[in-house]
Amino acid sequence: MKKIELELPVLPYAVEEAMNRLRINIKFCGKNTRRILITSSMPNEGKSTVSMNLWKMMAEAGFKTVFVDVDLRKSVLVDRHNFQKQGAEADLGYYLSGLSEYEDVVYETNIENGYIVPCFNLLENPSALLEDVRFKELLDKLAEDYRYIIIDSPPLVSVADGALVATMCDGAVLVVRAGETSKSLIKQSFQQLEQVNCKLLGTILNRVETSGRAYKKYYGKYKKGYGYGYGYGYGYGAKKKDAASTVNNSKKSGDKSEDVSVNKSDNK
Ligand SMILES: Nc1ncnc2c1ncn2[C@@H]1O[C@H](COP(=O)(O)OP(=O)(O)OP(=O)(O)O)[C@@H](O)[C@H]1O
Ligand SMILES: [Mg+2]
Repeated sequence: MKKIELELPVLPYAVEEAMNRLRINIKFCGKNTRRILITSSMPNEGKSTVSMNLWKMMAEAGFKTVFVDVDLRKSVLVDRHNFQKQGAEADLGYYLSGLSEYEDVVYETNIENGYIVPCFNLLENPSALLEDVRFKELLDKLAEDYRYIIIDSPPLVSVADGALVATMCDGAVLVVRAGETSKSLIKQSFQQLEQVNCKLLGTILNRVETSGRAYKKYYGKYKKGYGYGYGYGYGYGAKKKDAASTVNNSKKSGDKSEDVSVNKSDNK
């Protein structure tokens, strides 16, 4: 198996803690939750950031985990994480086009237990390729060989790719950019996932303002220098000031982020 070396920045303490809670919550989603889609309503909400870090944490926790970059139209991960691929060209696009096989497109990385199916070559219209049975076969094979498959995807509203991939996943995590994504858009995304029978494992409130009261209460001593935070829950409707807080259907505002998990009901 070929190897890719990549760089991931060290996370601020509060973010690392939040990501760690996400990792643990996903662990409790049951043994059949393997193919996990990280999605969002709009561009730039933080899907790639969350998915890369979740992948790394799962791997570091000892789970054989593979990251699949399905953002075939505009993936930025190769540059962002300084991928050193030593001349390797085979990627997800190659596999979907029939130019490469499974063994050629799964790479080991410098993260122990962390594997990757990268996207080196951008495609203009990958929808037809993602619809092809080869993609489903890839995910099925990965599900046999790896404990978790973390799938980074394009936003749900822009192109059909995200919803298409959702049909082949065991569950999705919806990333919501605090203060930016409207309630109606979030509702629309919930509905889109429901329509394709993709279970919503949870939502992540990303890019939360760190100057709010709730943030200070929980993360006050770590606040200096941190520009962001994460929170998890089921619902929507966060207020901008609820920094790093959890939004939840039963409690509309979130001081108690410890209360909720990504999916308590799916403990198979
Ligand atoms: N919590 C955060 N705090 C600060 N910056 C963040 C945070 N999350 C993501 N970013 C930054 O926001 C930008 C967009 O993030 P990212 O690429 O992860 O979003 P995306 O949803 O994958 O975007 P796209 O829809 O284009 O794929 C990046 O520059 C990233 O570094
Ligand atoms: Mg992205």
